[in-house]
Amino acid sequence: MVKNQIYSLWPIYIGEFYNPEHQEIKDDLIKFFKEYEKKNPKGRDGENKENYNLYESNYDLHHEKNDSLSKLLSFIAKSFLSMSNSTNKKFIDRLKNTKPSFDVRINNSWFIRYNKSGSVLPHDHGRCSWCCVYYVQIGKDASNDNGSTYFLRPYQRKSPEDFGGSLYSSGGNAVFKAEEGKLLVWPNFIVHGSNPYEGEKNRIIVSANASVHLSK
Ligand SMILES: [Fe+2]
Repeated sequence: MVKNQIYSLWPIYIGEFYNPEHQEIKDDLIKFFKEYEKKNPKGRDGENKENYNLYESNYDLHHEKNDSLSKLLSFIAKSFLSMSNSTNKKFIDRLKNTKPSFDVRINNSWFIRYNKSGSVLPHDHGRCSWCCVYYVQIGKDASNDNGSTYFLRPYQRKSPEDFGGSLYSSGGNAVFKAEEGKLLVWPNFIVHGSNPYEGEKNRIIVSANASVHLSK
């Protein structure tokens, strides 16, 4: 007899990675970003209306020459690859005999230095497979309400009188606390933003968009 089935499909993956080299590169990165800001006082021009009270670099940070930045981008690229390997595991296992290798391409990268209470309203990044945020500097007082990153649930169905459908398909955002040396990675279609940070230190982050290619 045919068996009834209920499928649970399309999970959303958000990765959290910790950089073991953070303390070694932090001060140099902050110094480098200060110099960058002096050279490019206006920062990125553009219609990024989601930004509030912050400085944002151009989107080609990965073309800059700085050892600490290169180390950070290498950590970010490895983390992107971990996400791709993990989420595509079933398919990659089938390629095992061909010993596939992968090429992570950073398409855009930038830094943001938030002024006190600076924030970014909900937005997504489009044309890439993975996006990320890396916390270069934030105080110990950061919390889910203070300086965190939030992700909006990708499907929202509001029908309050319909118990059967509305409960499972609605609900809160996913909120991740900002911590120095932590990297969050998510798929490009997730709408996200940052909560204002009220601490004394400026919140500083690096973001990047990447695609992962099967090269062999
Ligand atoms: Fe973003």
